[in-house]
Amino acid sequence: MSRPATSTADRVTMPTSPVRVGIVGCGDIAKKAYVPACKRFPGLELVACADRDVARAEGLARESGLPAGTSVAALLADPAIELVINLTIPQAHAEVNHACLAAGKHVYCEKPFGIDRDEGRAVLAEAAKRGLLVGSAPDTVLGSAVQTARHHIDAGLVGRIIGGSCHMLCDAPETWHPNPAFLYQRGAGPLFDMGAYYLHTLITLIGPVRRVAAAAATTWTSRTIGSQSLRGQAFAVEVPTHVSALLTFHSGAIVNLTLSFDVRGTSTLPNMELFGTEGSIQIPDPNFCDGDVRINRRGVHAWTTYQPTHGYRTGSRGVGVADMALAIRSGRTHRANGELAMHALDIMAAIAEAAAGAGQVDIATTCERPAAMPLGLSDGEID
Ligand SMILES: NC(=O)c1ccc[n+]([C@@H]2O[C@H](COP(=O)([O-])OP(=O)(O)OC[C@H]3O[C@@H](n4cnc5c(N)ncnc54)[C@H](O)[C@@H]3O)[C@@H](O)[C@H]2O)c1
Repeated sequence: MSRPATSTADRVTMPTSPVRVGIVGCGDIAKKAYVPACKRFPGLELVACADRDVARAEGLARESGLPAGTSVAALLADPAIELVINLTIPQAHAEVNHACLAAGKHVYCEKPFGIDRDEGRAVLAEAAKRGLLVGSAPDTVLGSAVQTARHHIDAGLVGRIIGGSCHMLCDAPETWHPNPAFLYQRGAGPLFDMGAYYLHTLITLIGPVRRVAAAAATTWTSRTIGSQSLRGQAFAVEVPTHVSALLTFHSGAIVNLTLSFDVRGTSTLPNMELFGTEGSIQIPDPNFCDGDVRINRRGVHAWTTYQPTHGYRTGSRGVGVADMALAIRSGRTHRANGELAMHALDIMAAIAEAAAGAGQVDIATTCERPAAMPLGLSDGEID
């Protein structure tokens, strides 16, 4: 749902009482990122976790010192829980988002926001009908690196952005993920699994996208799990694993974006390099909050590393949830919001269609650039 945009001048204080949070989906990212994130922010109080496999929820609760690990139904029936963090697999995101909204809970969902446009649109409509908030990862764009890049771009250091080149080139998440088959099913692959990091960053820095063109390939139709208990097990690949897209922004900027799980050997291409009328800027891997922002200004002929202007250099997830908790208490817009996630989902769906032969595809949705994070925040602080 839309509320007035927040500006850095429009600050509110931290919530006086923390927002009570439940996690649904107790797998890899819950344990390594979101449980620690909930402990980091005073505006969040994690009170329960749930999974369709209740033993997993009980295990996470034990390891993390949470009061309860339950079934999803039990968590949603708890009137104390105000906000659910949905950390299920992409194929379950929309179903769980709807269940949370039906139970009267605000919901923050891991990416992608849905596996197709219809899923995303239906969740947004349901939330608006019920007067509840929907948020979505990735929130790494609220971290130090992307906010530092935004600060310098907005200050005009590289002039008007006219184009760019972005690369997410890696060798197979099945080498490290304990249960990776979902990453090769509809709603995942490098486009839907990793695209949102790049698109949320580009939208934050340049604004919304107007049109896309693309090509894609599935290099291997079967992959083999390389880690932990399922090591050696083969699974089928259902989606393209090497995707190249050309994005035209409403601003006029033209950016090429390649997302691949097929690159053997380490690429030396930058994750993100944008070209401005007064210079170029490199943004580090948007899957994380840290890394160096480098700028090469016209006439200087050398790359300079710029010191971070913003906080949240460590920890890779959670700022967006804490920001949403503040929005729940204050009534202001949250930055990692559903409209932004829906625009990114629409772009990814359009890239898939263009790659499948639809030619250039116009993007029907749009969104506001989320408000910049304020300067000078202490850790755990949002506004
Ligand atoms: N693992 C990472 O490093 C990582 C990083 C960033 C984002 N993510 C995102 O986080 C989400 C979860 O990824 P993960 O790696 O933790 O996966 P995972 O497979 O390790 O965990 C997912 C959990 O969700 C549970 N689940 C599935 N469907 C459910 C349903 N309908 N109701 C309740 N529980 C259900 C599963 O039982 C499992 O415990 C995905 O959207 C992924 O894209 C993961």
